[in-house]
Amino acid sequence: MYSLVRPLLFRLEPERAHALALAGLRAVGKLPPLCSLVCKLWGAGEHPVHLWGLRFRNPVGLAAGYDKDALAWRGLACLGFGHIEVGTVTPLPQPGNPRPRLFRLPAQQALINRMGFPGRGADFVAQQLAGSRPSGVVLGVNIGKNKATPNARAADDYRLLVRRFAPLADYLAVNVSSPNTEGLRRLQARRTLEDLLRAVLAERDAVRQVPLLVKLSPDLSPQQLDDALDALLAAGVDGVIATNTTVSREGVPEHWQKEAGGLSGAPLAARSTAFIRAIHTRAPSLPIIGVGGILTPEDALAKLEAGASLVQVFTGLVYAGPTLPRRIVAALP
Ligand SMILES: Cc1cc2nc3c(=O)[nH]c(=O)nc-3n(C[C@H](O)[C@H](O)[C@H](O)COP(=O)(O)O)c2cc1C
Repeated sequence: MYSLVRPLLFRLEPERAHALALAGLRAVGKLPPLCSLVCKLWGAGEHPVHLWGLRFRNPVGLAAGYDKDALAWRGLACLGFGHIEVGTVTPLPQPGNPRPRLFRLPAQQALINRMGFPGRGADFVAQQLAGSRPSGVVLGVNIGKNKATPNARAADDYRLLVRRFAPLADYLAVNVSSPNTEGLRRLQARRTLEDLLRAVLAERDAVRQVPLLVKLSPDLSPQQLDDALDALLAAGVDGVIATNTTVSREGVPEHWQKEAGGLSGAPLAARSTAFIRAIHTRAPSLPIIGVGGILTPEDALAKLEAGASLVQVFTGLVYAGPTLPRRIVAALP
């Protein structure tokens, strides 16, 4: 079915195609009989994972950035995801970078994006999350600072977002790894990261004890990763999401080398799996959500084998279609 729809979607400009998919999924989420049908036809099965006191109905989640403003999360839940991570949400609305800012690389099964956290802001997203909760799905909220907020005041943005979303989310993910907000990734430096996380965790503890995760960049050097893990362990976060997109252009043809932004999809797979393995070796007690280039069940199994407890998909949904979660869950041992 998706092999028929995909060529039509790929004739549209990528951001338009994405908006169309979101609009369809939002409609599905509003109509329970349609949701049941979608779930029956394409939904992923059960393969429970228990982590952080939460029950995930299966280990396959939706990665941040797909549903930034939480418009379609109820419809996405009908596809059977074990968890859905909305966001990145910023405190205030912001337009993001000028278009075009999302590019398909079909031959490589990859995307390049430099979205820059476009979004309607925390108030809007909180409204979308309030109200009925689809049963069985774990809801994560990924949080980030506004472009206009200097790094020196980043903690204020993250703390505000924790206050806002700890009461609504099952877990929070602190995004310090997007390559498309200038200077954001510098928040991953040892001292800066530990100070930021201590402030954010203190806020979390004052509001509601939801698990707090940190999403890392695959472009950290081994030394930088060691330092970042020291900060995560010292501050006492609950887990790590590995990885965000890469600024590397390995595995990408010449004419794409100069397109600015983060690369996702197949060319990222081995890099992010190696990164997960390194985290698991260095900090075996830290639960990992593995993400990056999962386009097949085998890609997901490789991440679980490397030490991830859960996985997420984004680019794989674009290329392999909405039954990817179902196929992954069916292949689990
Ligand atoms: C268009 C696009 C937008 C994204 N936006 C975000 C975001 O807002 N926050 C975030 O943490 N990650 C974001 N990501 C990164 C994904 O969550 C994921 O970490 C990355 O794409 C690697 O997974 P994949 O290869 O399965 O796509 C985005 C990725 C894409 C392709």
